[in-house]
Amino acid sequence: MDFHAVAQRAIGDMPPSTRFSPEDAKVIEAHADLILPLADEFVTGFYDTLFAHGPTRAVFEEGERAEREKTLKDFLVRVVNGPHDDEFFAWLAFVGPVHVVRQVSNPMMLAMLDHLVIFIMEKFKGHENADAVVAAFVRLSATLGAIISYGYEVAWQEALQNVVGMPPALVQRMVHEEAQQMFPLRSHG
Ligand code: HEM
Repeated sequence: MDFHAVAQRAIGDMPPSTRFSPEDAKVIEAHADLILPLADEFVTGFYDTLFAHGPTRAVFEEGERAEREKTLKDFLVRVVNGPHDDEFFAWLAFVGPVHVVRQVSNPMMLAMLDHLVIFIMEKFKGHENADAVVAAFVRLSATLGAIISYGYEVAWQEALQNVVGMPPALVQRMVHEEAQQMFPLRSHG
């Protein structure tokens, strides 16, 4: 799987005004001194939320939480400090399939990206740059969601292709045709 291509394709599908931009990166980096001290609180709240809900709790193995907390903290530090280059986005395309392997669903992933945005919104309430910081995190979350969910989709497709041993274009055409049968558009009768 070409992680760079997956990230660029996902970003390319997003209208530019919805994408995480270099300006957003500057806004986040400029507030690093406020965000980074909140990292432990964010990570604890994130995993308290996942461990309090049966379907998300079920993903984790016994004794895994400390390691997962460290990974998420490293992730937040990388998000805040950058650099937000091609490598960064390609790495995010790899994060999607990592979750496929552990059977973390896209609804779980997308919900927790919102959790990040809401956390930042609450912490920046009343701050003079709150609007810009929150908007930067909203676009960051949308971009991460796009890359992770697309990475997830491609990983599924590739796994399916390997299982059935068919060329990618054929699998895609058959899936598309089957989807048309299953969900006929009303305008098509
Ligand atoms: C905001 C959404 C999320 C982000 C940004 C995120 C990020 C990450 C990252 C960066 C890794 C490490 C990837 C690597 O190996 O380098 C990881 C691993 C992992 N995440 Fe998440 N994650 C998210 C949501 C979730 C959710 C909702 C669950 C479970 C319900 C979850 C469960 C896991 C597990 C079990 C691993 C370990 C995978 C392994 O076996 O190596 N994550 N995550």
